[in-house]
Amino acid sequence: MNIVIVGQGAIGLLCYAHLVKSEPLRLSLLASPSFNERQFTFTNIDGKDETIAITLANKETLKQADLVIYCVKAYQLNDALAAHQAYIGKTAVIALAHNGMSSLTELPEAIQKQPILAMLFTHGSKKLAKDHIVHTGVGQVDIGCVNNTVDIDFKQQLMQLFNQYFAEIFWHQDIKAKQWLKLAINCVINPLTAIYDVENGAITSGQFTAVTHTLLQEIVEVAKHQQVSLDLAELESTVQKVAKATARNCSSMRADILANKKTEIDYINGYVDKLGKLYQVNTPENSRLWQAVNKLSGKR
Ligand code: PAF
Repeated sequence: MNIVIVGQGAIGLLCYAHLVKSEPLRLSLLASPSFNERQFTFTNIDGKDETIAITLANKETLKQADLVIYCVKAYQLNDALAAHQAYIGKTAVIALAHNGMSSLTELPEAIQKQPILAMLFTHGSKKLAKDHIVHTGVGQVDIGCVNNTVDIDFKQQLMQLFNQYFAEIFWHQDIKAKQWLKLAINCVINPLTAIYDVENGAITSGQFTAVTHTLLQEIVEVAKHQQVSLDLAELESTVQKVAKATARNCSSMRADILANKKTEIDYINGYVDKLGKLYQVNTPENSRLWQAVNKLSGKR
């Protein structure tokens, strides 16, 4: 299989560091022009450092790709897809690994015709420098088709490959419920860790129990209007589990705020606010955190 990973962020490099060990896989990284590294340090979950050589992708590699994994921010996705659509082969599978939700119909038209997968990571990965990432928490990877069905051989190959390097990997016939679950996790952990400037583990403290409950309650109500039935108690326990498993991690939103970068809040709590307005469901807590994070980015 020929795979291109797009994006040199914490999840892009985590994915690269795991898959690079597989033979005879052809793996390359499509990074932004300002990224000049030819190797990076990967501190694995046991705290051991490895040096990983990078093969950079280009237009030719994109043309030959069987799978292109987009590990970019939600707000960068459309521009990246629009820039690549002329090169990506018609049968190549596109995997979307960003946090938050966006609708399929908002993607460039040509891309909507490709087989598209959602690839949801709940691993903790921290970027210490542009050439150093640390795997801070073992999570899982949930994969499923967003539009066309992916060829059965491809699915088997992909699952086999990921199985070797990621402890828990699951294929879902209905990925929508998992996307909502991931959205719920991000709606709690990301804004709270960013606003209170704490690591993910802090979310398990009693201080955040009530706000977590309210945020999730609102999400359960909004999800119903998208024909997704979520269980509040299950959501609460999953959020706790992820916060514990990634306790030492700096959430991606907190990292963005600390680095004065744009956050994905519009696609996370902002998405819940948007759907709440559409379906006339009150989402005061999600709306409040959406605005609070935007205010925080504005200030910095
Ligand atoms: O955005 C993040 O940081 C991650 O999605 C997660 C799972 C909250 C772990 O930090």
